[in-house]
Amino acid sequence: MDSQENNIEAMSLSRRTFTAGLAVAMTAPLVAQAQTPLIKRPIPQGSGETMPVVGLGTAVVFNAAANSPQRAGAVSVVRALVDGGGTLIDTAPSYGAAEGFVGEILTETALRSRVFISTKLEEYRPGGEEAEAQACLQRLKTDKVDLLQLHNTKKADQDMGGINALKAKGLCRYTGISTTFERDYAATEAIVRRARPDFLEIDYALDNRKAEERLLPTARDSGTAVLVALPFGRGRLFRAALGKPLPDWAAEFDCASWGQFFLKFILGHPAVTAAIPGTGKPEHMIDNLGAARGRLPDEKMRARMIQYVEQLG
Ligand SMILES: NC(=O)c1ccc[n+]([C@@H]2O[C@H](COP(=O)([O-])OP(=O)(O)OC[C@H]3O[C@@H](n4cnc5c(N)ncnc54)[C@H](OP(=O)(O)O)[C@@H]3O)[C@@H](O)[C@H]2O)c1
Repeated sequence: MDSQENNIEAMSLSRRTFTAGLAVAMTAPLVAQAQTPLIKRPIPQGSGETMPVVGLGTAVVFNAAANSPQRAGAVSVVRALVDGGGTLIDTAPSYGAAEGFVGEILTETALRSRVFISTKLEEYRPGGEEAEAQACLQRLKTDKVDLLQLHNTKKADQDMGGINALKAKGLCRYTGISTTFERDYAATEAIVRRARPDFLEIDYALDNRKAEERLLPTARDSGTAVLVALPFGRGRLFRAALGKPLPDWAAEFDCASWGQFFLKFILGHPAVTAAIPGTGKPEHMIDNLGAARGRLPDEKMRARMIQYVEQLG
């Protein structure tokens, strides 16, 4: 997406989302909540550019949906994201058919200019980065992505020269690195400290808080934006909360569902720029965007949220 569009004020949920037949699936608090603008946060190295704090991950669901009866649902998820004021879609070549499917959807819906695409290089062998990036662009049916990341970095001395050159050539607007493996956190931290990539994508969730110890503070100190992968622990948090009541005090931070409880916890951390929950259901996309509306929990409230979820058993 171009930076001019990034600066457009946050939208509240448009009428189109309701007329698309999704309103039936929305509870009254969600409909009321949708009138509030999305929270946006600055991309620290983005010269004033901001992004809505909830986006969409495509790893599992979009791979499965690409050539299946769930295809239409996934297209509606992308429409719900954009209609709700969201922009960020995260994908990768290693997510099976997902990256190409994102390209198809953005072409079909003509939404490319309204979406911030994040994808990744899997091999990044020196000298091979450009061919890898061009293959991503081809699958995504675009001539430039917004963010290109080195997927699953493992080496503390990882050279960022190749990916920086792609940015200089205009194949991407931002560079980043990602990991969701604790064994690679130390190497990832070293790269962030030394190379100060524009973005870090890292796993972080209410019941998976290891990234708080070093990676999130390091990213903050380095001026690196943080995208949060696996915000629901691949659905693990929903399984823990199944059939359990949302506490009354969740209303104190404008939280209307368990999905918002888990996401607002993440967004309450000051180092986090955006979370990228995966879903194949448009009503879940709308629910997730609701976490980016209204108040967020402060440190004291976040401690209470941890305690509450830990005793769910
Ligand atoms: N190394 C890396 O860079 C890396 C590694 C892993 C993941 N990632 C990124 O992180 C993204 C998120 O991870 P993920 O998709 O595996 O897991 P996740 O976001 O933690 O959880 C997804 C699960 O939550 C459910 N869900 C989503 N919203 C919901 C809602 N409002 N209410 C109830 N259930 C809801 C989804 O089911 P429904 O379809 O039924 O909604 C799905 O089963 C990935 O898609 C990918 O983009 C990056």
